[in-house]
Amino acid sequence: MVKKNLVFSGVQPTGNLHLGNYLGALKNFVSLQKEMECIYCVVDLHAITTFQNPMELKNNVLETVASFLATGLDPNKSIIFNQSSVSGHAELAWILNCVSRIGWLNRMTQFKDKAGSDKEKASVGLYVYPNLMAADILLYKATHVPVGADQKQHLELSRDIAQKFNKDFNCKDFFPLPEPLIPKNISRVMSLRDGTKKMSKSEESDYSRINLKDSPDEITKKIKKAKSDSEEIPDNLKSLENKPESLNLINIFAEISKNSLENVLNEMSGKEYSFLKTKLTDLIISEIGPVGQEINKLLKDKSHLEKVLKKGKEKANIKAEENIKNIREKVGLI
Ligand code: TYM
Repeated sequence: MVKKNLVFSGVQPTGNLHLGNYLGALKNFVSLQKEMECIYCVVDLHAITTFQNPMELKNNVLETVASFLATGLDPNKSIIFNQSSVSGHAELAWILNCVSRIGWLNRMTQFKDKAGSDKEKASVGLYVYPNLMAADILLYKATHVPVGADQKQHLELSRDIAQKFNKDFNCKDFFPLPEPLIPKNISRVMSLRDGTKKMSKSEESDYSRINLKDSPDEITKKIKKAKSDSEEIPDNLKSLENKPESLNLINIFAEISKNSLENVLNEMSGKEYSFLKTKLTDLIISEIGPVGQEINKLLKDKSHLEKVLKKGKEKANIKAEENIKNIREKVGLI
């Protein structure tokens, strides 16, 4: 039987989306909707694995939808909805909690990072977070999952869970093994302050990231303050090995200007980082500026965003219901 390609991915509504989300995920979401059936989900159930202020959560869900639309997702082409509005996600997550192994979850590095030093105090939800992620993907029998490199380990776990389910319930190929689609050139955009850490919404300093809603002034200030190097830009990658912040700036420049790292180094070697920073600022402003403006415009009409979610929920629910019925049958639930 030929398996139908289907794309699924999710983004947490936990505040401003940033350049990392954009280059690592959203840009890919948009290009995939031209080729395949796509489902894009605002994963509010994942967000509440750490405490969220209820009013802020509602706004953040709508803002994430606005960011989806502003980057070019089209609700007539892709299904756009929020996770908690389709109950199949939570239902399948429970079933998969019973398939997944504690030993597997114990290996998840993101839990270790997020739980910090006092793991006893982390929510149970944070611990089983990757099982819910597997449920998101398997609920639609998705075959392809566009994500940044930070989600690779979770994707591998989803494949293990799918495989174990197929084996335990003697239904070979029931769940396809989802394939991660990770950008080749820039799979991890790093913090502007510390190039060993990924750019993240939860990083305390706003100077560590470029938010999609940042004004040209803010972008200019942030790139100016970004950590780089007092030496000149080298002509080879090897010299950047221990300079993660400089490498990150060059990487971002190469990605947005659609150039190879080698070409960028050829063009810029011998120049000071201030030269790169000026060019990078212009480039980011022309790429992100219109997205930020569109987000702000879309946020003025919340009822439109709610309508997009409602329409998406209805479409997602039809697919989820059909699959969950078969899943319940496989497990022996009446
Ligand atoms: P989240 O909300 O942290 O991030 C959304 C997407 O952005 C990517 N990303 C990055 N890519 C490159 N560089 C960065 N600095 C960077 N920061 C974030 C993430 O890899 C992700 O693709 N667990 C997921 C959400 C999720 C999901 C799913 C994804 C829930 N269910 C099912 C795929 C399939 C998360 O927290 O993403």
